[in-house]
Amino acid sequence: MTVHHNPSQLPASENSLNELTLLYQFSNTMLSTIRLNKLTHLILTALTTSSSNLFERAFLFLRNEKSEVLQGMLGVTRRTAEGLQIVGSQEALGSRWEISEDVISLQRSTEFCAKVRATRIDINDSCPLIRRVIADRTLCHTNFTICHECGTCFFVRHLCSDTFAAVPLVARDSAIGIIVVDNPESGQEITQENLRFLQLFANQAGMAVLNSMLYNRIEDAHINLRDARERLLHGERLAAIGEVAANLAHELKNPIITIGGFAARLLKGLSEESKEHQYAGTIVKEVGRLEKMLADILAFSSKPTICFSVCDLGEILRDCLESCATTVEDHGIRLNVDNSRGSWSILGDAHQLKQVFLNLILNACDAMSDGGRLTISVSSASPENNSVIVSIEDTGGGIAQEMLSKIFNPFFTTKSTGTGLGLAIVNRIVLNHFGTIRADNTELGALFSVMLPLVEAEQIQN
Ligand SMILES: Nc1ncnc2c1ncn2[C@@H]1O[C@H](COP(=O)(O)OP(=O)(O)OP(=O)(O)O)[C@@H](O)[C@H]1O
Ligand SMILES: [Mg+2]
Repeated sequence: MTVHHNPSQLPASENSLNELTLLYQFSNTMLSTIRLNKLTHLILTALTTSSSNLFERAFLFLRNEKSEVLQGMLGVTRRTAEGLQIVGSQEALGSRWEISEDVISLQRSTEFCAKVRATRIDINDSCPLIRRVIADRTLCHTNFTICHECGTCFFVRHLCSDTFAAVPLVARDSAIGIIVVDNPESGQEITQENLRFLQLFANQAGMAVLNSMLYNRIEDAHINLRDARERLLHGERLAAIGEVAANLAHELKNPIITIGGFAARLLKGLSEESKEHQYAGTIVKEVGRLEKMLADILAFSSKPTICFSVCDLGEILRDCLESCATTVEDHGIRLNVDNSRGSWSILGDAHQLKQVFLNLILNACDAMSDGGRLTISVSSASPENNSVIVSIEDTGGGIAQEMLSKIFNPFFTTKSTGTGLGLAIVNRIVLNHFGTIRADNTELGALFSVMLPLVEAEQIQN
């Protein structure tokens, strides 16, 4: 079914019927379309399609209340407005419009639409015309000469043809956006009848657009709520796993120490050339690994006790480097340390902070099993922020993008011999010291940055 609305060619009664049918179809469409994107396409297509014969172009701006800016959302021309289908009841008054995804994409892809979407109108700086449409919520029909004389509005010069009309989208007593229409191809005057029609359209469209925006907001809130629930469940699951792991670790610790002790005694009594010596050596090594794993699990699951005292970060780092010097050397890693500037006093538990940097350095060594460069540097965070940043950067290839958000989760590991507790412990210690840690990828590897608050001078004296 096609509805023609051309007042100049039709008798008055037929014209009124067509007008009424269009309005009914429009109203039915508004009531049955909830997606904002589709709704805006339907509104502008209805205004520009040749079957309604109203305008040749229509463009829509929505208002951002916080920034008081009108943001260009969509522009439709008659050339791309031919895909309006009429669906629903056979009766004209019960039918509504539909638009396909193909037409939506076609409308989005035009140069005109891109130009509209790239336009932002600052309401407070804009021309009196726009201010009037928004503040007085009235339709304005004007020509370019008037606007050109005023000269304040870039958008008019940039987008509109000589004569155009702008109508507010009103909802709950406020203008939530504007629709602008014009006839650039034919240069035809905009008739009073079409303007009346535009006003009626806009009145309905405003409420529909607001409803759709509210629906989108509810949907976003729903998604956020679902994510939060999943995170909560994930947290609960992790806590349950942690408890089981802690109980297991506790039960396994004593027998493992016993096995390790006996294996070490056997090792001493066996000739170094014998196969048995080799076997006992493997037992001692593996038991050592198990002990470390159990110690990590217990450290992670027990309530942390922190002995705060003023400590020197430089000293802690030097201590760490001494402890892992052989590992660094064995991996053929070149070390680059830059913490010579300044003295870095922090309030913390030196033993736990050492654990932080040891874990990060050992991870970096693991990532550079065939050698590389390890750079450790200390710097001030920012003049306003009395904190220090320790950066540990390697050239081991970095961390896969999809894993970056998981590496601080307990038991997350990509290593066959890892427990995946290293970074979880590191994260917890840093947080307990009121600091933050972040992981990034660089061109050649991973960069871990630990930010810790520095001690104020008065705190040192006390
Ligand atoms: N410097 C790094 N380069 C590349 N990947 C890294 C680096 N540091 C951490 N990772 C990734 O993060 C994962 C988790 O690290 P985490 O230290 O928590 O556990 P782990 O090293 O696997 O085991 P462990 O508990 O023995 O430390 C690692 O398995 C690894 O995939
Ligand atoms: Mg580790």
